[in-house]
Amino acid sequence: MPKDRSKEDFQFKILSIYTGAVLTNLIQIGYETGLFEEAAKGDFTVEELSTRLGLSKRYLQEWLNAMAAAEIFHYNSEAKTYSLPQNRASFLTGEKAKNLCPHSKMLNSFGKLLPKLIRCFKEGGGIPYSDFRPEFTDCMDDVWRRIFDELLNDGFIGAVEGLKNRLKKGINVLDIGCGTGHATNVLAKKYPNSLFKGYDIAKDAIEKAKIEAKEMNLSNSNFEVMDVSKLPSKPKFDLITAFDTIHDQAKPLDVLRNVKNALRNDGIFLMIEFKFSSDLKNNLNNPLSSLYYGISLMHCLPVSIAEGGPGLGAMWGIEKAKGMLLAAGFTNVKLLDSPRPQNCIFVCRK
Ligand SMILES: C[S@@+](CC[C@H](N)C(=O)[O-])C[C@H]1O[C@@H](n2cnc3c(N)ncnc32)[C@H](O)[C@@H]1O
Repeated sequence: MPKDRSKEDFQFKILSIYTGAVLTNLIQIGYETGLFEEAAKGDFTVEELSTRLGLSKRYLQEWLNAMAAAEIFHYNSEAKTYSLPQNRASFLTGEKAKNLCPHSKMLNSFGKLLPKLIRCFKEGGGIPYSDFRPEFTDCMDDVWRRIFDELLNDGFIGAVEGLKNRLKKGINVLDIGCGTGHATNVLAKKYPNSLFKGYDIAKDAIEKAKIEAKEMNLSNSNFEVMDVSKLPSKPKFDLITAFDTIHDQAKPLDVLRNVKNALRNDGIFLMIEFKFSSDLKNNLNNPLSSLYYGISLMHCLPVSIAEGGPGLGAMWGIEKAKGMLLAAGFTNVKLLDSPRPQNCIFVCRK
């Protein structure tokens, strides 16, 4: 009789999951010490890399061994040299959106709040944004900055026919939940005839947005601390954007209604969300589903629930999102693919 391997396989699966958790920490170490950038330059021994970066040789050796065993680095056992192949380095180095290192910092920062999350399981309630900051502000900036630099204009704005032309001529634009405002500043630089505003509830993020606008010498970009569940219907905007923001809200329907009321009649609301289904069965074969259900659980749910919100979460899904946009009064809602496979773009008109 063939041996039943299912028990061993499952054991191995759990251990592999733990491997992923450990390597997430190790990737953060590599990111913060400049190891990946230096390693991408060519073959090296532990001694050489330790001297070049001024890092402890013993710690470095263990890190490299883990990286080689994980098949992230290549190990030449005869020469005793390590290397980071170029096709892998592009996912761990550089200023392109492809660099996944910032995600490791974000995930590890969520892990620090695990005791509070366990308390939420037992007692209900949430974890306020203030508990996630200041790390969250910087991690969010680090993850999205490269995406905005590389993909915002051509990928997200360019997906909507005619929008680049309207921006060139000059329109009023608002980004809600703008975080550190990089999206707003990038577009303000690109489209000097348009006027840009960014609102966020977080003082530290808005401070950083203002500093960047000043550093970039922008006179058409400004920022305010504002709770967008109280967004007034005036001034009116031609374009309102929300990047990865609506599902975290404490009052998502109020925010969407406010957005609709603050739009001009021919205005557009671009809502960038995660491209999953509201129905678990449709997400089961998607290799990214468990990652985003987990992120949603560790951050998106508790920040919304902490303020008495519904905790929609990052995985609220396309169907529910569309339903809420219609309930808020948008009559024309189109769904477009985004340049990132895990996101989608809702293009909404009154
Ligand atoms: C997941 S972050 C996205 C930040 C930014 N859009 C980006 O892509 O980097 C969500 C942002 O929404 C902001 N936010 C949450 N509730 C808000 C509210 N009621 N009014 C304004 N901003 C809010 C948070 O402070 C946070 O900066």
